[in-house]
Amino acid sequence: MRAQAHQFITQLYNEGLPVFTKTALEDIAQQFDQCAEKASYGQTIRVTALNGAIVEFPLETDNPYPYDYGDDDYRCIMTRPRLVYRTAAELTADRDVQFFSPTRAYLPLEVAHSTEKRCLSTGCTVDGWPTTSYEAVVDRFCRARTAWRASEHYRQFMAALSSATIPTGIRNIVGFACSTMNWAYEDKLPSDAQHALLLGLRDLLSADGHVDVHCIVQDPIYTDIDRQVLQSLNVTVLDDPRAFLEVDNNSVVLSVSPDIPIQQIITDIARPAILLWNRVTEGKKEDPFAADYASTRVISMIRDEYVKVPIPEDRDYFDDLALYVRKAACTRTEGS
Ligand SMILES: C[S@@+](CC[C@H](N)C(=O)[O-])C[C@H]1O[C@@H](n2cnc3c(N)ncnc32)[C@H](O)[C@@H]1O
Repeated sequence: MRAQAHQFITQLYNEGLPVFTKTALEDIAQQFDQCAEKASYGQTIRVTALNGAIVEFPLETDNPYPYDYGDDDYRCIMTRPRLVYRTAAELTADRDVQFFSPTRAYLPLEVAHSTEKRCLSTGCTVDGWPTTSYEAVVDRFCRARTAWRASEHYRQFMAALSSATIPTGIRNIVGFACSTMNWAYEDKLPSDAQHALLLGLRDLLSADGHVDVHCIVQDPIYTDIDRQVLQSLNVTVLDDPRAFLEVDNNSVVLSVSPDIPIQQIITDIARPAILLWNRVTEGKKEDPFAADYASTRVISMIRDEYVKVPIPEDRDYFDDLALYVRKAACTRTEGS
């Protein structure tokens, strides 16, 4: 059974069929919205597997997390449903041989739940990590943005982008995994730098004749304060997986070291005008369990359809970020 599942997925992958589709993501996004409106006992979320089977995941919102035994006054409680992304390489890896599940074998999208710690006597949520105030977040972000705009890194970065032949008609910049700006400690954060980059791109593209370039971001770690700050900067925060649905051939995608396989998902659903994401290296050993490794499909797309434009490095804030601009001749029909 395992061999059969692996063979099926390998064949599908080798034939170039998408593992992740907008149709599947949209279907789940709609079910998540329905659950948020009316979470009720016995509700399920239905996911279509690669072999066409429908797998149902029970909605567990407000149930105790089964692998946490809590203590006298605290319990770990499951909250909203969330997606787990599994690549073709992960599905065909033999890591959990003894736990092989025929139900999960064909599933690149699974439903799990976010969790929070709740005090039993008060019913209140216990803060997971130290956050700071709205004002402090804005202040630190503004300082980071101003400093970056005055830096040699910014000058070189914008010069590189201006020298590239950018496809016309860009309508949005979609940032994934830029992380929270709400962390209480540290004077400088990579997340501030990455959101400043997002806004810098919008300024540059708008000045370059791309009208109404809309900034969209997705990161499940965002707090209410992040959302307020981003809203004040005219950046729309979407819940996973909604930002993927906004990515098309007229998008810029920004993603730095995400916890999920952004490169593989994007490669399956679109050919964005610009990709600003971790460097794609040919010949690197594949690790099916690395969060965002470049599969052979990602590598081929980058090699055949994009031009790499050299940008200055800043490992502290942008890891090994690379800039890829779609070649003029490459606009294929978008994946559904
Ligand atoms: C290793 S951190 C990198 C954060 C930041 N880009 C940096 O360079 O410091 C991975 C990020 O991926 C985010 N992430 C996890 N699941 C995600 C999802 N479904 N969509 C977008 N971001 C996600 C995490 O919340 C976290 O902010």
